Amino acid sequence: AAVAAVATPPMGWASWNTFAAQINYNVIKNQVDAIVSSGMKDAGYEYVNIDEGWWQGTRDSSGNITVDTAEWPGGMKAIADYIHSKGLKAGIYTDAGRNGCGYYYPTGRPAAPNSGSEGHYDQDFLQFSRWGFDFVKVDWCGGQAEGLNARTAYQAISAAIDRATAQTGRPMVLSVCNWGAQSPWDWAPAISTMWRTSGDIIYWGENASMDRVLANFDSAQHPNAQTPGHYNDPDMLVVGMNGFSAAQNRTHMGLWAISGAPLLAGNNIATMSAETRAILTNREVLAVDQDPLGRQGVKVAEDQTGRQVYSKVLSGTGRRAVLLLNRTTSSASMTVRWSDLGLSGAATVRNLWTGTDAGTFTNSYATTVPAREAVLLTVTGTTASPTATPTTTPTSTPTA
Ligand code: DGJ
Repeated sequence: AAVAAVATPPMGWASWNTFAAQINYNVIKNQVDAIVSSGMKDAGYEYVNIDEGWWQGTRDSSGNITVDTAEWPGGMKAIADYIHSKGLKAGIYTDAGRNGCGYYYPTGRPAAPNSGSEGHYDQDFLQFSRWGFDFVKVDWCGGQAEGLNARTAYQAISAAIDRATAQTGRPMVLSVCNWGAQSPWDWAPAISTMWRTSGDIIYWGENASMDRVLANFDSAQHPNAQTPGHYNDPDMLVVGMNGFSAAQNRTHMGLWAISGAPLLAGNNIATMSAETRAILTNREVLAVDQDPLGRQGVKVAEDQTGRQVYSKVLSGTGRRAVLLLNRTTSSASMTVRWSDLGLSGAATVRNLWTGTDAGTFTNSYATTVPAREAVLLTVTGTTASPTATPTTTPTSTPTA
């Protein structure tokens, strides 16, 4: 067994995008309470992930991590217990190398050296498991600085997690966070639940950026690596963060949903608008992401440069999610052809963001897609004979 078996892409919230290293018990508790009261939990958001900033790099004489109990009264077990008391799951963070990222980069709070797990894999993952954590994200700043071999390091981490689980009985999701370095899609599916494919979607102090969203989406296109329980990870969401309009938030959600990506909200759940909440909790969009087949949508057409059609095969018969992505700077009519979806004859089209049926169409459907936005549809029809499913491997595409 390689770490926790997770049937559909993990959903939850993570502290990094909004809070960076400015986290403590109360910050996390407030978000937990908001995840419940806002309806995020009911929509399926489950993991509450404490990212970098919880540990300043000190250990006791036995090598056990010592936690700042002024910031985390009761230690990390107390916050994991609180998260569990609300019916949610708890996530924590470390680095594959000796030092976490805060040692190398400005991240909102100076981190002391030695806040990584190198040399302590068994000890630390057992500790996380005993504290009650169900998810661990393992970053790569120390690993990269030391020139570690990523595959070897993360294999050792995965094995340490399995040994911890054997002792505690608590499965743990492993989130490999090496930003696509050393092609994790080639080896991480065997040892982890999800693996980052790119750099960060947002850096400390930035606004949300559609360029970064699109670049991260592109970097995650490794459809052959993705199966139920093992997911390409284009990074946490920036939905609802400064810099994005509602239309941009919907485009971003649509991209992650068609990709079957993990959905880890990164905005402040306690202060989000009703509009952001509606986007994050749209049941039909979430169902595309969470489809049990676990497939990643792939590009099936690009009739004009930057106007791309993605298709994700859904469970059931003749069902596809379709994303019409207009990366250009002008609005355009875009067409999806059934032949590109492996469908034929008549098919019904539903627009998931407007929540309306567009009707029944034969062979194709066309609609207007504003500049730098996407339209998300489901198309339900008849599988073409002989059975054809889109298997096009995406190529890199211009952003013009
Ligand atoms: C780099 C990762 O890619 C981010 O998601 C975040 O965990 C930061 N490190 C923390 O420093």
